[in-house]
Amino acid sequence: MKYRWMFVLAFTVVAAGICSSPVQSQGKKGDAAVNRARKQALMLDDLYKTAVVIVTTNYVTESADLAAGDAFQALFKVMKDKGYHEVRLLDASGEPIDDDNIPKDGFEKKAVEAIKKGAANYEQVMVKDGKRYLQYATPVPVVMEKCIMCHDNYKDAPKGAAIGALSYTIPVE
Ligand code: HEC
Repeated sequence: MKYRWMFVLAFTVVAAGICSSPVQSQGKKGDAAVNRARKQALMLDDLYKTAVVIVTTNYVTESADLAAGDAFQALFKVMKDKGYHEVRLLDASGEPIDDDNIPKDGFEKKAVEAIKKGAANYEQVMVKDGKRYLQYATPVPVVMEKCIMCHDNYKDAPKGAAIGALSYTIPVE
């Protein structure tokens, strides 16, 4: 357990060290607030991904149906507008359906790069307007055949490889 946290901390330091703006810092060892934000990111990741699979399995039968991707963008907007957290659905395939999902800033680009190389997650703590935020990204693989119905390019993706990512920005409180 002790070594696991040392690894997480080392990863944070490396991730924070190589990212540029806005101002970022790494969570101090045993920084309880950063640990809480990370736990929230992991909980949200399970929640959103499980819900996407349930929706796609049960409610999506043809490409004209409302995609979980679209429904969840609406959900992410509500969470952002209410000030809870921000989530960005990112493309890692090079052929996004929506260009808004192309990785934009330094963090998103570096996170997608690391995730494409097989990282299970990528994180940094950044400071904006005097407030700390944990930025935490996780992989999105092609979890079911149905994904290919709308994303034709996913059929060439190696099994389990990330074709996208979810990037969370969570207030450190
Ligand atoms: C019914 C069609 C449909 C299905 C099925 C579908 N998607 Fe999507 N997906 C979309 C649409 C439409 C968008 C763009 C949403 C937006 O406006 O940001 C999208 C966006 C994405 C993105 C962001 C990059 C991009 O292309 O814009 C990822 C990653 C993604 N989907 C993964 C998946 C995965 C994994 C599955 C299978 C669980 C899946 N999708 C199933 C329609 C679909």
